Amino acid sequence: MQQKLQANGPTWQVQLGRRDSLTANKTLATQNLPAPSFNLTQLKDTFSRQNLNTTDLVALSGGHTIGRGQCRFFTDRLYNFSNTGNPDSTLNTTYLQTLQSICPNSGPGTNLTNLDPTTPDTFDSNYYSNLQDGNGLFESDQVLFSTSGADTISIVNSFINNQTLFFENFVASMIKMGNIGVLTGSQGEIRTQCNAVNGNSSGLATVVTKESSEDGMVSSF
Ligand code: HEM
Repeated sequence: MQQKLQANGPTWQVQLGRRDSLTANKTLATQNLPAPSFNLTQLKDTFSRQNLNTTDLVALSGGHTIGRGQCRFFTDRLYNFSNTGNPDSTLNTTYLQTLQSICPNSGPGTNLTNLDPTTPDTFDSNYYSNLQDGNGLFESDQVLFSTSGADTISIVNSFINNQTLFFENFVASMIKMGNIGVLTGSQGEIRTQCNAVNGNSSGLATVVTKESSEDGMVSSF
């Protein structure tokens, strides 16, 4: 079961005893989530509001070593960055051309591309070496390396030089993030379907299989 889920990344024990919320607040969730257009100051602020520090920010951003993103989250970087009428100057020019062909100006915005153009499905430190090469997909990725004088640059470099250090920090930060706003004891409830409050199945999109609900014990990338 675990093998097919893994992308050769680290594993860790997930704390148990967490319960599910009785409510959800889309406005609050959106307020607290960082946007892909954020600069470094905005990213640090959003993370620090959750007691996550700069090392957490850099380590957790490494989650973008796998997966895809839609054009609409970075098209401004390709054609009209910060209303300059030009592309983001921190973008590698070859990468810029590749992205422009995937995401035409005024295109649908839903086209997909890899978050890590080098090794899109392997969990490794190439996410960080991409940043050194100007191959970060979102502004929120590239600013970790391209913000002049930033303290994040040396952290990026250390993860490039030592992938084990990245994995160790990623695991520690994932556990830390997993401790934010936890409901225990009699708080909340244990949902029978993970995407709906008990007794209100009207918003259900998918049914949780027995197999996937058993996955809570050990997490892996
Ligand atoms: C630093 C702030 C972050 C921002 C601004 C951000 C933004 C985004 C955006 C815009 C997408 C693309 C969504 C889409 O196109 O539909 C994405 C995808 C993704 N993000 Fe993040 N993210 C952040 C942090 C994280 C963290 C902390 C993790 C995990 C540790 C993570 C893991 C992923 C993964 C795996 C995907 C790909 C999902 C897929 O392929 O379906 N991201 N992120």
